Amino acid sequence: MELKEYILKNECLEIHVCNLGGIIKNIFVRDCRWKLVDVVLGFDTLEQYIAPEYRKNYPYFGALIGRYGNRINQGRFILDGQEYQLPQNNYGHCLHGGDTGFHHRIWDATQPNAQTLVLSCVSPDGEAGFPGTLKTTVTYSLSDDNALQINYEAETDKPTIVNLTNHAYFNLSGDGKTTILDHQLTLNADYYTPVDSTFMTTGEIAPVEGTPMDFRTATAIGARIDNYDFEQLKNGHGYDHNYVLNTQGDISQVAAKVYDPKSGRTLEVYTNEPGIQFYAGNFLDGTVKGKHGIYYPLRSALCLETQHYPDSPNKADWPSVVVRPGEKYHSTCIYKFGAE
Ligand code: BGC
Repeated sequence: MELKEYILKNECLEIHVCNLGGIIKNIFVRDCRWKLVDVVLGFDTLEQYIAPEYRKNYPYFGALIGRYGNRINQGRFILDGQEYQLPQNNYGHCLHGGDTGFHHRIWDATQPNAQTLVLSCVSPDGEAGFPGTLKTTVTYSLSDDNALQINYEAETDKPTIVNLTNHAYFNLSGDGKTTILDHQLTLNADYYTPVDSTFMTTGEIAPVEGTPMDFRTATAIGARIDNYDFEQLKNGHGYDHNYVLNTQGDISQVAAKVYDPKSGRTLEVYTNEPGIQFYAGNFLDGTVKGKHGIYYPLRSALCLETQHYPDSPNKADWPSVVVRPGEKYHSTCIYKFGAE
């Protein structure tokens, strides 16, 4: 099937999406002089997304992630008494649905109007080890209040687990040569889920209070990120953690906010999900040549991935990711742009 690029446009935003992986290739926001500025990392051409040198270590730029965003311990889980084995592509764990996850698939795409793109795919029973035929629809839509809404829906014919997200890498300055260490972040979360040295959640829900994990008031991402005396920052190579949102599924409350003091641009995130992965681009290492030939340096972008908590299938007390036949999985993420 052919690679295709779709353009969504309104007065404030212009977004380019690829049918491969539902990848958000560009998010152009307007600056005060009405010039368009691209605030996400990625490649210039669609072919680069499938080039062999990037296919293996592709950092998931802008892609839809499934069937399970984030990690599952040793790629194993038990559902209704049956054990399932998923690909082990990251420290022995399953990360982002394995190497052949939703980010690599070509989605069916329809564009009902200039502001909306509907992507769908059917993942067969047993694909990448996941039970059940999963029919997924993801809708990207722009709204007049400067927001991109991502709606995820899925249905299955057997009990299964689902946790879908998007992996956009934001740098609000629009300049991928610079880091996001000066971006100020607010996370509406009193707790987070600590990880071990393989990035696996330990099962603990820890308070952010009194630690460098606390972003309840706007704080520069770089202010404490290198404090590796704090074990969690050492384990994550910086921030790479799931935050337990205070919003508890209430999409009307802001879950996260980013402010770039240089450009004045802002990004707010809203979601019905219980968690958000804050990843500070710690594995960008200057080797991936992105848009305009820029080799993206360490921490030149951040991801805010709305989701259920990592490894939920193996953590009985955490919000469930199980979807059964007849039920509808539904998740929403809103990225709202602005300027201050
Ligand atoms: C994970 C990181 C991982 C990255 C891959 C993030 O969602 O939390 O640990 O390296 O995805 O680009």
